[in-house]
Amino acid sequence: MKITVMGAGYVGLVTGACLAEMGNHVVCLDVDPRKIDMLKRGEVPIREPGLDAAIARNAAAGRLQFTTDVAAAVGHGTLQFIGVGTPPDEDGSADLQYVLAAAENIGRHMTDYKVVVDKSTVPVGTADKVRARIAQVLDERGLDLTYAVVSNPEFLKEGAAVDDFMRPDRIIIGCDDERASLLMRAVYAPFMRNKDKLVVMDVRSAELTKYAANAMLATRISFMNELAMLAERVGADIEWVRRGIGSDQRIGSHFLYAGTGYGGSCFPKDVKALIRTGQEQGLQLGVLQAVQQANERQKQVLVQRVLARFGEDLTGRTFAVWGLAFKPDTDDMREAPSRVLITELTRRGAAIQAYDPVAMPEARRVLAGTPRLQFVEHQSAALEGADALLIVTEWKEFRTPDFDQIKATLRQPLILDGRNLYEPALMRAFGIDYIGVGRAAAA
Ligand code: NAD
Ligand code: UGA
Repeated sequence: MKITVMGAGYVGLVTGACLAEMGNHVVCLDVDPRKIDMLKRGEVPIREPGLDAAIARNAAAGRLQFTTDVAAAVGHGTLQFIGVGTPPDEDGSADLQYVLAAAENIGRHMTDYKVVVDKSTVPVGTADKVRARIAQVLDERGLDLTYAVVSNPEFLKEGAAVDDFMRPDRIIIGCDDERASLLMRAVYAPFMRNKDKLVVMDVRSAELTKYAANAMLATRISFMNELAMLAERVGADIEWVRRGIGSDQRIGSHFLYAGTGYGGSCFPKDVKALIRTGQEQGLQLGVLQAVQQANERQKQVLVQRVLARFGEDLTGRTFAVWGLAFKPDTDDMREAPSRVLITELTRRGAAIQAYDPVAMPEARRVLAGTPRLQFVEHQSAALEGADALLIVTEWKEFRTPDFDQIKATLRQPLILDGRNLYEPALMRAFGIDYIGVGRAAAA
């Protein structure tokens, strides 16, 4: 099939490459000429396991092309996927300007039947706005063309995006149009071994499903973070509690890890946007407000631990930071807890020696101008002369480091672990003062 994908970001590139993988002819459009130039040269602007190879393979086969030419892109696909950003407005609601600009482009250049697919995360009612914008532009052009607007939210996780797209837990299609529904089913059929994975529903329910999924996952995390704080006070270990409750099938074991709070481009923004939608409807979504507050508190957890140990004035102190990305296997620094930590500690006079396996270029960009922040080329170099090691992202290579070397290199053997990577008893055996999140040893 001929498919156009608007937006060459995380969602757009993964969608484009994976759809091309199944034999579709995909044109990926972006307004950012720098990104498109890179992609045309065979460079991939984001780090995502498996994505470079998928793009290279399909581009070489002529099934995946990149362009900034709006008319050509709209002309190409019967299906027009919109995968542009929906960042938060000042009031927390999703900013739809990019989605509506994409819709306008479709209306401006279409000459035949199109299925417009909202893949961006958008509030309930957006499909109606997209439909109205296209209708308005067609009206201005004096044309009466048929088109359908479908909601098809994306559930991929960064760091596992290609895998998630190729083997989805479910595919949600919100659709009120029979012809569009047939086309959507055909496009997704190759991604499903089990037909039950495709859930076709009305458009508004599909739009709300996306926010509900992210909000539920964020709720689990905030719940566990709060319980971790309680566990520390009562002398319990959150890791045992996690295993204990996760084995109940009704609860399940995923997304129960206490840590430094959830970050990334989605949970914080989507929880905020859902709260905002509630307010617009005269509803206080109190559970989600608490989820958000708990997360803001949790992002301070390592800061609080440092202050408790070293006092409010950190002048002359140096801290090693391992991990900058908001999670492993990505260089994404959006809403990363490391940003809060580094900003708060340097504001109080501390120096930071930071290391991340892939996110340092991006971290340099977003943390430019931060005083006393130094990026080092190896995790062990971060430890030199540091008063403590702070772990923020659970990269695999941090899991079994040389503990003797850590002990010998730090000024004092103190690890403040925001990801619970190590067993407190093992750390005691190495003679390391170790504080995790919600671990018995932290009490
Ligand atoms: P992104 O910022 O990585 O990419 C968006 C791209 O759209 C940018 O390259 C931008 O230049 C381009 N763009 C903006 N306006 C355009 C237009 N009119 N035409 C063509 N391109 C345009 O964003 P992302 O992380 O891919 O997220 C996109 C959407 O998908 C958001 O709504 C997000 O909430 C949702 N989502 C993201 C993820 C994720 O893990 N990143 C997962 C699921 C859903
Ligand atoms: C999340 C969802 O998992 C995806 O399903 C969704 O498609 C995506 O948002 C989106 O809508 O954009 P992502 O933001 O890539 O994906 O990353 P997650 O793996 O969900 O992690 C989000 C944050 O939660 C990270 O900071 C992570 O460290 C934190 N987290 C996750 C925890 O603190 N504890 C956990 O148990 C799990």
